Amino acid sequence: MRIILLGAPGSGKGTVAEGLRRAYGFPKVSTGDLLREAVREKTPLGLVAASQMGKGGLVDDATVLALLRERLSRADCRDGYVLDGFPRNLSQADSLDGLGLAGPEVVFDLRVSDETVLERLARRRTCPGCEAIYHLLDKPPKRAGLCDVCGAALVQRADDTPEVIRERLKTYHAKTEPLAARYAARGNLHLIDGDAAAPAVIAAVRAVLDPLVAAGTGGEAPR
Ligand code: AP5
Ligand code: MG
Repeated sequence: MRIILLGAPGSGKGTVAEGLRRAYGFPKVSTGDLLREAVREKTPLGLVAASQMGKGGLVDDATVLALLRERLSRADCRDGYVLDGFPRNLSQADSLDGLGLAGPEVVFDLRVSDETVLERLARRRTCPGCEAIYHLLDKPPKRAGLCDVCGAALVQRADDTPEVIRERLKTYHAKTEPLAARYAARGNLHLIDGDAAAPAVIAAVRAVLDPLVAAGTGGEAPR
């Protein structure tokens, strides 16, 4: 099963993807995580990507598609995966269709207000080692400033400044939000109230997926 998570910056794509990984074993395939890894490793691609990411714009389609193809070719994606942050514009959606990937496609649009985005991203902390996601109030780490999973020191993402968040929101509204209509027309779009608490958001997504997974359309049995 191919699960696509659409949503604004801070809408909870990464959080929901992690919830689905725990529930079904589907890996999270996040183009943002892949790009940040390239930036950290200072690869040629990472050096180019960093400037776009720092401005709140999109990295060029060819670069992102190359990263995505490589990631999807790995063994853990054989039975399904959760796409977090791809596609991000109409041309990427066309490219995704063109890959001719197997399995049913289920799309969720996590709808949040811009106010929610600003609050969440101001208080988000992430792990640069394993990309685990925290929130200072709603999901604090067990030991202040340290990742529960790998123990690394948590950071605030470089693009989580008020100025860059505003640009990311503009990019989202102009380029990504229109994708919902495309998937709605295809009949596989599910609108989710992303302003709700994280467990409720994950439960709403699972209410759609549990029957599909149980019917044998892919993935492990729900846990
Ligand atoms: P990317 O990393 O994808 O960032 P984004 O889309 O801006 O989304 P975020 O990761 O900021 O938020 P999220 O929706 O994952 O929310 P999270 O779960 O962390 O992309 C970064 C950049 O890379 C882009 O700007 C672009 O430059 C580039 N890029 C990436 N993909 C690209 C592509 N395909 N093409 C071109 N360029 C691309 O949650 C946020 C916070 O809220 C956390 O603190 C969390 O704990 C908390 N939270 C989550 N859900 C809830 C809830 N329901 N209630 C309360 N708190 C919650
Ligand atoms: Mg994310």
